[in-house]
Amino acid sequence: MAKRTAHIGLSLGADICWPICYEGLLDQLALDIKQGRDQVDVNCERVTIEPFNLEQPVKYDVVIDRLTHWYGVSREWIKKAIVLNDLYVYNNPWSLQSNEKHTSYAAMLRLGLSVPETWMLPPKAYENQDDLEVTLQKYARMFSLDEIGDRIGYPFFMKPYHGGGWKGVSKIDNAGDLHKAYNESGTELMNLQKAVLPHEHFVRCVGLGPQFRIVNYDPGAPLHDRYRMEQGFLSAEHEEELIDIGLTINSFFGWDFNSAESLLQDGTWHPIDFANACPDSQVTSLHYHFPWLIKANLRWSIFCAVTDRKMRKNMDWDPFIKIADSDRSQAEKLKAYAAIGNKRFETEKFREFCRKNLGHLDELAYDFFGSDIMRDAIHQKVSSLFPAHEIDEFTELFWTRIQDWREREGQHGDKDFQ
Ligand SMILES: Nc1ncnc2c1ncn2[C@@H]1O[C@H](COP(=O)(O)OP(=O)(O)OP(=O)(O)O)[C@@H](O)[C@H]1O
Ligand SMILES: [Mg+2]
Repeated sequence: MAKRTAHIGLSLGADICWPICYEGLLDQLALDIKQGRDQVDVNCERVTIEPFNLEQPVKYDVVIDRLTHWYGVSREWIKKAIVLNDLYVYNNPWSLQSNEKHTSYAAMLRLGLSVPETWMLPPKAYENQDDLEVTLQKYARMFSLDEIGDRIGYPFFMKPYHGGGWKGVSKIDNAGDLHKAYNESGTELMNLQKAVLPHEHFVRCVGLGPQFRIVNYDPGAPLHDRYRMEQGFLSAEHEEELIDIGLTINSFFGWDFNSAESLLQDGTWHPIDFANACPDSQVTSLHYHFPWLIKANLRWSIFCAVTDRKMRKNMDWDPFIKIADSDRSQAEKLKAYAAIGNKRFETEKFREFCRKNLGHLDELAYDFFGSDIMRDAIHQKVSSLFPAHEIDEFTELFWTRIQDWREREGQHGDKDFQ
């Protein structure tokens, strides 16, 4: 029997609270896992930024990455480490870089999901480029905004094709709004998307590997109240469908950690925003759901590191497209996509691994989230975001919500892993 250490790296930016909790709980788990012929312990450290030789070795088995979508050096280090050093990263950086929100709409339409009618407009303005004028003069067709507005039907939303945290999103109620928003959009490429209004539910479904958390979401509330705390507000069928949609999206794009926004209207789920790989993980927005995130993150990363899970470097969309082109009903197709998702995420093997090796996580987490370390992590995060006179009040608010989680859910543990 060989002794082996599995190394997990955290590639972080301004993150404060979740790494403290992730590292603290990992430490307390004191893992010593029998994996095949090996006895494996797990080490975690924060990845630093420095010059690197492409051929220099990488010590990590898994990197949890928060920087690929905006920080070039880390993104390129990660890409070389996957190709040259067999690193496992969540999320697939090539997919993250190239599959914008716009592509995610197109792909899920191809699979038959009820993405609302979506258009793209040529931009209102351009940066100067050598061949621009001749290209536009030759090929750019004049178009009538009013006509497009009428074809979609009001209201609809105008939003940047790559997403970006609510920036540049406007609700368009009439032709006047449309002209105004387009005139202000500058060089930004914009999608227009039919509004799903009114709707019965607005839900965020956060996925970590094959684990999903369904959260009632109120986009109109202040940031600290957007994630609502109630659980079990959907029927079992609607929950299952949402999880199948999550499995489909995340396995299709190679996103281990992603969040999907869907709206339920007349009994049908309409996904409207689901290219959010590596979503907000802060206690100040997740509060009640924060312990779930830490536990799910620990489970998935430990599983990937200890079992030496192989990174899927290419997307391989054909199996999905084949199902889309079959003569099954849409409900059957969704089940078949989700089955690919479960296969790619190794759901059964993962659950078995957790039952066998992480049985003590629930109890440790219950104590941890009631400890001074948790309270201090909240305080640090709140201090970095809120004005001085609100720090105590908001620290207390988020602390109380986490204690609510302990009482309502924490003491029972997660049923999927028992
Ligand atoms: N088709 C739609 N129907 C109803 N509401 C919508 C629709 N599209 C957008 N919205 C509203 O606008 C908000 C912002 O839009 P969206 O979530 O697509 O962009 P975003 O959050 O900026 O993007 P990202 O999360 O990718 O950064 C949504 O949370 C929702 O409240
Ligand atoms: Mg959104």
